[in-house]
Amino acid sequence: MSVIKAALLGFGTVGEGVYTAIHSHQQQLNELLGVRVEIVAVLIRDKNKKRDIESNILVTTDFEEILNIRDLDVVFEAIVGEEPGYTYLKQAIDKGIHVITANKVMFAKYGQELIHKAKQRNVKLAFEATTAGGVPIIRTIQRLLQVNRITKVQGILNGTSNFILTKMRENKLSFEAALHLAQQKGYAEADPTNDISGKDAFCKLMILSQLVFGEQPCWSEVKIEGITSISQQQIEEKEHQGQRYKHIAEIYKEGKLIKASVKPIIVDSNHPLYWIEGVENAIALEASLVGNITLQGPGAGKMPTASAMIEDFAEIVQHQQLQEKIPALQM
Ligand SMILES: NC(=O)c1ccc[n+]([C@@H]2O[C@H](COP(=O)([O-])OP(=O)(O)OC[C@H]3O[C@@H](n4cnc5c(N)ncnc54)[C@H](OP(=O)(O)O)[C@@H]3O)[C@@H](O)[C@H]2O)c1
Repeated sequence: MSVIKAALLGFGTVGEGVYTAIHSHQQQLNELLGVRVEIVAVLIRDKNKKRDIESNILVTTDFEEILNIRDLDVVFEAIVGEEPGYTYLKQAIDKGIHVITANKVMFAKYGQELIHKAKQRNVKLAFEATTAGGVPIIRTIQRLLQVNRITKVQGILNGTSNFILTKMRENKLSFEAALHLAQQKGYAEADPTNDISGKDAFCKLMILSQLVFGEQPCWSEVKIEGITSISQQQIEEKEHQGQRYKHIAEIYKEGKLIKASVKPIIVDSNHPLYWIEGVENAIALEASLVGNITLQGPGAGKMPTASAMIEDFAEIVQHQQLQEKIPALQM
């Protein structure tokens, strides 16, 4: 059985999830792809942290060592922030290594450039995990809605914000108390700024914009408003009127202009996002042929995010195998 060599860039929540998923689903991968997946290296920042990694795997802080691995097929990137992820992925693509990323901050800014580079090098670049974690929204748009014209996208793209709004309504908590609960449950970071300010949802919206419309609006013109200004009293008042506050990232086209915003919107029960509760994410699409579709699921977390990356991986290998067969079929 042939072997596929993979390296993990980052071994935090997501990187460790991919490591676990490859081990726990090796048999499924074998049966599906007819290959054995071998993690040959892990890139980290702090060599002194204790980690549960098999002793035959290279653990390094030096990306050069990973680039120099012979016949490395694919890297899973789960580092935080624009750099060094962007530079590492460029280098990997240049070397003909397939790339799977979860890094939304980096990808919102550099995704298009990396996709272009990957095409030139005939390398696959997959990014399902960047947007709404385990919800297969990227694949749905790329593969299942190819002929449809998508006219509008609305999403609850940040589980932490949605959890806070849900708890403020259900348990009549103040914003601060709901945020504290989110932190206790591990849904919110110690510094939750990106989640509650709308910045995290904005990055995902830009990735969706690029995918749906082939371009992004001017970032500085997008209204980004978080959830911090909503009081428990406002939420309660709306509830009496059968309405809910939802933090919604929205994008649509008006003529040639892309209109985008990330802000709290009051919705009633006939809106598909009214029903999305807790840490769940959901994306409602309007498309020219099919009409309205809503996808819902876990928007973050170790295994849902790893799931998105492993499914990307399976598709890359299948695509590669198909390409190898085509010359034979044409003979
Ligand atoms: N967590 C989620 O649910 C989720 C969901 C979807 C997407 N994402 C995205 O996935 C990425 C990873 O998220 P995470 O939650 O797994 O983060 P995390 O737990 O903080 O882990 C980050 C990992 O990256 C490593 N790292 C950071 N800077 C590095 C550098 N300069 N060089 C080498 N390694 C470096 C860290 O090394 P050390 O271990 O040595 O510190 C750590 O292993 C982020 O871009 C995030 O936005 C996360």
